[in-house]
Amino acid sequence: MSSTAQLDPALVPATMAGLQIPIIDFAPFLAGNPAERAATAEAIGRACREIGFFYVINHGIEAALIADVYAQAKRFFDLPVAAKSTIAIENSACHRGWFQVGGENLDPAKQKAAGDLKEGIKIGRDLPATHSLVLAKTPLHGPNQWPENLPGWREVMQTYYDRMTGLGTEMLRAFAVSLNLDAHYFDRWLTSPMTTLGPLHYPPQRGPITEAQIGAGAHTDFGCLTLLAQDAVGGLQVRTKTGLWVEAPPVVGSFVVNIGDMMQRWTNDVFTSTLHRVVNVSGRERYSLPFFFDPDFSAEVAPIGPNPRYAPTTAGQYLLDKINESFAYHQDKTQ
Ligand code: OGA
Ligand code: NI
Repeated sequence: MSSTAQLDPALVPATMAGLQIPIIDFAPFLAGNPAERAATAEAIGRACREIGFFYVINHGIEAALIADVYAQAKRFFDLPVAAKSTIAIENSACHRGWFQVGGENLDPAKQKAAGDLKEGIKIGRDLPATHSLVLAKTPLHGPNQWPENLPGWREVMQTYYDRMTGLGTEMLRAFAVSLNLDAHYFDRWLTSPMTTLGPLHYPPQRGPITEAQIGAGAHTDFGCLTLLAQDAVGGLQVRTKTGLWVEAPPVVGSFVVNIGDMMQRWTNDVFTSTLHRVVNVSGRERYSLPFFFDPDFSAEVAPIGPNPRYAPTTAGQYLLDKINESFAYHQDKTQ
């Protein structure tokens, strides 16, 4: 911990002892025989039910590509505010572009307080104005805002976006197998999935640190699943079912995978969407690359199995409501 940080005791994580955020090797699911696929899916399903978090390794995304994405993200975040503002999210009709420190507030309980101590970029499915979903004025659909004068930036981000969409699709197949569904059960809702790459930059936080403002306020993710690359700095914390905050430390070569609220609802509370937060007490810059995987806007999210606890909804409406809660600029846009 940095000597300049004074942490509110409520923000200090408990010891790791006793926590089992499992590390799951995904290769046997991607390339194994049926028994290996089933065993891997079972381990994933168990983590989704018990903790809602796991690490995945051997996921097939090359380290060099991930390093390139970090480098390009940093290159953008290092620009002066005036340059970053040319792709400000406020200019986008579909929630794409850069948001400044404080622009997102992930903890609804601190709605009146300062937003999160992080800046970020939202990169979604890059659809031209002529695409049928854009012509139909589907909320959250349209073109990305790409920064100018950063050669190679767009290509690296787009390559990663496409590869992560593939990985997310495979992960949903593992979820389906673990739920005793056909492996391709979710595929029908993945025609134009609402996947979002959201590179984040957390400035160092010094002085007294309280729950009023931390890197990312305590929250659950909105959507189906999140695949997060985090750098070596640390600071991600997860709340266990017994109410303890524990660290989810960096694991080389891994993605942290977690379930979001939509997937909890879709599985009728079989999978659990777990609170987490970021407290960057390292005294250093922290970068992370969350990739949010959500199905088609029109996907009907009706609880799977008997005795549904929720009414059916659509993935699109569900996400819109959640974005309105955490981005002040968005609240008057798309009801
Ligand atoms: C998020 C999130 C964690 C991190 O963006 O939803 O939880 O380490 N990020 O940046
Ligand atoms: Ni999150």
